[in-house]
Amino acid sequence: MEARDWDRIAPQYHSEVISPFQEGVENPLPGALRRLRGAGRLDAAEFGCGTGALLPLLSSRFRHVTAIDFSERMLSLARRQPIGRNVRFLRRDLRDLHGCRERFDAAITVNAVLSPDAREVNDILRGIHDSLRPGGRLIAIFPAMEPVLYQAMLIHEQEMHATSGRKRALARTRRRLERGKFNFELGLYDDGKLSQKFYYDFEIRYRLRRAGFRWVRLGKVFYPWDEERIGYEMFPGEPRMWDWFVTARRPRARA
Ligand SMILES: C[S@@+](CC[C@H](N)C(=O)[O-])C[C@H]1O[C@@H](n2cnc3c(N)ncnc32)[C@H](O)[C@@H]1O
Repeated sequence: MEARDWDRIAPQYHSEVISPFQEGVENPLPGALRRLRGAGRLDAAEFGCGTGALLPLLSSRFRHVTAIDFSERMLSLARRQPIGRNVRFLRRDLRDLHGCRERFDAAITVNAVLSPDAREVNDILRGIHDSLRPGGRLIAIFPAMEPVLYQAMLIHEQEMHATSGRKRALARTRRRLERGKFNFELGLYDDGKLSQKFYYDFEIRYRLRRAGFRWVRLGKVFYPWDEERIGYEMFPGEPRMWDWFVTARRPRARA
């Protein structure tokens, strides 16, 4: 999706896009920001800030905050957030972060590295890495691919009990999952209009390491079983769907 696509979504963003900042989501990111020691002396950037849901917290914690997005309409909504004078806005494409080299101590990005092109993903992650001063940290959320496979298993369990015949159960599972819209090799969802990146655990570790990050740690952002909030089928009572919560560091010496 390009800036104009996000411009179009911006006014209805909160009704159209499932967000880790919605009510009922168990999201470790705000707690991690609050626990960061000495944050008042650090400069942070949010890459792909969208409507700025995280900016009030970032503004209250860090010395300076740079809020970056390539969508002008997203930025204009973000400017309306209750934030301090320590936030500046930058309209910039994450695929070209030159000019941001070694400017920040903390890089925050939440479901904003979404390019279906693996080369672009690598470039963006390298750009974010290079924007950090040595020793700087990444605190991020990435859309997760594994929960789609988890959905497949839950659906198949139901179909095995409801349907006679293994072939039929599998065919029905694939239909309910909308199997044809997923590309599991590349970690993509593609419905013909929208093509969006989802990440495997191993892929995040691989790509962040390739970008120069070390000490990569993964946790989970859990979404409630609530039709309006997760966009998948509901299996209340089963473990919840998730996105990846990720922390990593740029080494002090060049990796
Ligand atoms: C799913 S929204 C997430 C917004 C925000 N981080 C949040 O969680 O509320 C993705 C955001 O990333 C921005 N974005 C996507 N690709 C981008 C790129 N290549 N350069 C700059 N911004 C980008 C979009 O404009 C959009 O605001």
